[in-house]
Amino acid sequence: MKKFTVPIVIAGVVTAVVALVAFGGNASPRDPMTGATEFNIPVQDAALVTDGDILYQASCASCHGSDLRGTDFGPSQLSVVYQPGHHPDESYASAALNGVRSHHWDFGDMQPIAGLSGADMDRIVAFIRETQRTEGFEPYPPR
Ligand code: HEC
Repeated sequence: MKKFTVPIVIAGVVTAVVALVAFGGNASPRDPMTGATEFNIPVQDAALVTDGDILYQASCASCHGSDLRGTDFGPSQLSVVYQPGHHPDESYASAALNGVRSHHWDFGDMQPIAGLSGADMDRIVAFIRETQRTEGFEPYPPR
């Protein structure tokens, strides 16, 4: 009996590795609007990311989630529709300054967020982009 166990275990490991390479631990979902599957987000400045994390947690996390994955009050910022080719950095500044008319989801409108400077928004965007870069995107619509 024992002599079959080792080959079976090896076959299992090989299958798992082949599956991971073929289907990609890192396979990115497709943005339904732009068709993009490659996002090429650059590594963000570490100091901006650290400060942006603090600002994001204070001003955005109550709706978009402390891990960016959304709450009952707002969508996940890791949804593929928030990739930079679809929602560029300026759309973040605009969302905070002007609010957002609901168009992708059923959470309702986002009201403007008071008290954030342009430099603050650069920090928040750096934090969001870095998290999108390291965590990858979720499909849209969510499965
Ligand atoms: C009170 C809840 C709430 C807070 C706080 C909030 N948002 Fe939102 N946000 C929403 C909702 C809801 C939407 C979805 C609108 C839709 O259906 O497209 C949204 C959408 C967005 C979008 C998409 C804009 C677009 O053009 O489609 C961005 C970017 C965004 N939020 C960034 C932020 C940032 C950055 C912060 C913190 C400074 C923040 N939000 C705080 C609720 C919130």
